[in-house]
Amino acid sequence: MSLTHLSNMTSRRSAGDSQSLDGTWRAILDPYGIGHAALVAGYQNDAKPEHPGHRVEYDFDTSREIEVPGDWNTQYPELLYFEGSVWYRRIITVDADEDPSRRSFIHFGAANHTTRVYLDGEELATHVGGFGDFAVEVTGRLAAGDHSLVVMVNNRRERDRIPAMMSDWWNFGGLTRSVELVTTPASFLRDAWLTMAPDGRIVGGVTLDGTDAETVTVSLPDTDLSIAVDASPGEEARFVLADADAAQVAERWNPGAPVLHNVEYRATSDTVVDQVGFRTVRVDGTTIVVNDSPTFLKGISIHGEGPSGGRRAHGDADAKELLGWAVDLGANFVRLAHYQHDEAMVREADRRGLLAWTELPVYWGIDFGNEATLANGLDQADELVIRDRSRASVILWSAANETMASEDRNTFLTSIVKRFRELDSTRLVTAALFTMPSDDSQVHVEDELGEVIDVIGINQYFGWYYGSRESIADARYTSKFTKPIVFSEMGGGAKFGHHGSDEQIWTEEFQQAIYEQQIEMVKNQTECGGLSPWILKDFRTPMRTLPGIQDGYNRKGLVSEEGERKLAFGTLQSFYNSL
Ligand code: GCU
Repeated sequence: MSLTHLSNMTSRRSAGDSQSLDGTWRAILDPYGIGHAALVAGYQNDAKPEHPGHRVEYDFDTSREIEVPGDWNTQYPELLYFEGSVWYRRIITVDADEDPSRRSFIHFGAANHTTRVYLDGEELATHVGGFGDFAVEVTGRLAAGDHSLVVMVNNRRERDRIPAMMSDWWNFGGLTRSVELVTTPASFLRDAWLTMAPDGRIVGGVTLDGTDAETVTVSLPDTDLSIAVDASPGEEARFVLADADAAQVAERWNPGAPVLHNVEYRATSDTVVDQVGFRTVRVDGTTIVVNDSPTFLKGISIHGEGPSGGRRAHGDADAKELLGWAVDLGANFVRLAHYQHDEAMVREADRRGLLAWTELPVYWGIDFGNEATLANGLDQADELVIRDRSRASVILWSAANETMASEDRNTFLTSIVKRFRELDSTRLVTAALFTMPSDDSQVHVEDELGEVIDVIGINQYFGWYYGSRESIADARYTSKFTKPIVFSEMGGGAKFGHHGSDEQIWTEEFQQAIYEQQIEMVKNQTECGGLSPWILKDFRTPMRTLPGIQDGYNRKGLVSEEGERKLAFGTLQSFYNSL
């Protein structure tokens, strides 16, 4: 069996075509990776002793309980640092035999990192990647009765993976986002998307999964815009719903003033609906322009950690709280670092009128010369763009974070950028570049990657990792590309509630003083299109161990891991509200 994309899950849920499999599952730890071996395990079989002498050396029914969605690390103290395989099991009870005219899939919002799916003991598919969604077809396998769904998830870091051996975030493992059983008509819309191109046209695509060609009607019911699209199974049919003039009937989505339109994609036996915003985005020299208005990105970086508890974020409640903090900050932009976040985040950003940068976890030391690594990178790029290319909030696809320039790296990332543009030519492409100042605090970016991206992301830590605080305000950042620069990271650390001199590191005053100087520096830039300081909230990482201060958390947050606001929050907020 193979993996597939199922987009518009929100639509299938609201149509009642989805049964949530979230809740309490059973789990068996498998640090040695022997769970599939029949001799001593064979967990996929979910076996029971068939006679008194039958040797079965496991039992899901009496193994530990585990909540889905959720990382395993924060559910049991002994799992906090666990890296290896965990075998999940859930019984699916089917009331009636399947409707032969429909198809069934199990959809995973994400699972970190390598996931192998079994149903009733049969291996169905394997997915590699920790942050994109995927589905496995189970049509014809769910007769009335109980079925054993067994899912093996392995989060071990590997040299040839994306991300690879080291990341300044916690290696949360498991079924980290929702799992659902989805049914569709025999011939259904596997993908359907709609967005606004820089020239004001409304463009989109539909992909039919079925047997015969069909006509798909795409319409905005609250306008007279509609088009009939001829779709052949398995081939994406692209279309122009409206030219720039006709598209004017659709009120624009704007930062801070979001407008979402109902969209209907109607095939012969399948209808999918969505709520989509329409805006243009482009660059003009070193300025980012949204709906023909130069737009300075007043942003903040965000990791996919919930508002409290130091756990992997998932679902609407986390999204609403985290993005609510960004709105309180006066932000119009969020950098969703360093990987694809839960779909709830970009849908909430749509609703809040927040612009968004979304990113692949091509982070630090990637095996750029490895073809298999690139193949997985392209798969993850597909998942990133296919899921979110109807989201007005998303204006930037980011290919990487802080990767050292080399020929292999440039070739690898040029392929990723090319795939972004093939899947979606309407948004901007970027990457966060590692920079170090020359001694006179001038940074002139010449990274060849700047040729292929539209916006130059710059991570800089003047006043924290290097440079004196006095030198920050006079720092100058330019590039050879005449493209917008976005300070994709900047800032410093502080322990919430730790107060003292602003010369004393880890005090809130120290962090605030860095922000004050960084803000002066931003005001003096000539090529800066915006900023997303690092970072909204303290987050877990095994790299930060200072007892009493870090204790396993990166403290560059403007709020603590429990949501308590530090002085620097107010400093950045005042700056954004002054613009
Ligand atoms: C790096 C990196 C982040 C990291 C941050 C830091 O630039 O991109 O993932 O957390 O700096 O050092 O805190």
